[in-house]
Amino acid sequence: MARVGYVDESTTVESVRVAFDRMREKRGKVTNIYRALAHKPAMVTTIGPFVAGWLFDTTGKVIGVPERIDFDPEHLKDLRAPAVAADEWGGWVWVNLAAEAATPLTEWIGEDIITDLGQYRMQDMVLKEVVEWDVPVSYKAVVDGFNEIYHTAELHHVGPEWVRSARDTTMAVVNDHNFTCYVPRHQYRDQLAENWDHFKWAICHYVVFPNTTFNCNPEHIQVFNPIPIDVDRTRFKCWELVYPKRDDDPDYPDYERRMEAHWAHLKEVVGEDIAIYQQLERTKRSSGYTTNILSKREYKIFRYHEVMAEMLRD
Ligand SMILES: [Fe+2]
Repeated sequence: MARVGYVDESTTVESVRVAFDRMREKRGKVTNIYRALAHKPAMVTTIGPFVAGWLFDTTGKVIGVPERIDFDPEHLKDLRAPAVAADEWGGWVWVNLAAEAATPLTEWIGEDIITDLGQYRMQDMVLKEVVEWDVPVSYKAVVDGFNEIYHTAELHHVGPEWVRSARDTTMAVVNDHNFTCYVPRHQYRDQLAENWDHFKWAICHYVVFPNTTFNCNPEHIQVFNPIPIDVDRTRFKCWELVYPKRDDDPDYPDYERRMEAHWAHLKEVVGEDIAIYQQLERTKRSSGYTTNILSKREYKIFRYHEVMAEMLRD
């Protein structure tokens, strides 16, 4: 299951379907649909290499093949683009390549995350910006990076108070394959001791297997989405969501300024995370790279790959 696009007023599951249909009718080429949706900003990640001018009807059936005479009719009989399952939750459009065999979306995300992450009401938020990087490693390495806290002192230069407070992070595996993770914010330890309101006093982190991470602060959210392009190449997208302007809110200009500052800082932090993959690319095939040594405190990385192995095996 992968999240493919943020839903605003102009982008819903239905509008994605309508956009698909409209583009098929107008242009008949899936590559054009891809480009059209990329501007919506919903993006479809699994369009095949339909680059030879083949035409499809609105159901995905192949109806036009240049130089058809050169193809075996049996190969073209009832040929169609593969279907995907699509659904909507939290303001996002999600797809599952398993199509009819897909687990229903809310069952896949699970009650814990639906309830907890649902409190932020992302469907009421607005998209501030999306930034993208092309990363020369597997998407799983990127998920690993966001599943780990251990690197923050060295890579992100967080202070000793941050590191000490993060030792009290609580993590849980929910629904067998997803994670929740709460990092106490060191500035609010006293408040946290009084009432365990994790939405206010902790950074709340949710991972929906296999490739969507929500990093929630009380006033804004980043969504990290590494999209596999090839076995060791990934398009990484980071989405910044904020709450919309209300006309009657005199404090909104202050909120906007704070979000601007947070986001500018976070783009630098995410950039540091991404830059490390240039190093991984240079070393990943080295004969000296034989094992990973992981902190005992953080089991999410181990569990993520265990789940991956279980799913592939089963
Ligand atoms: Fe990081």
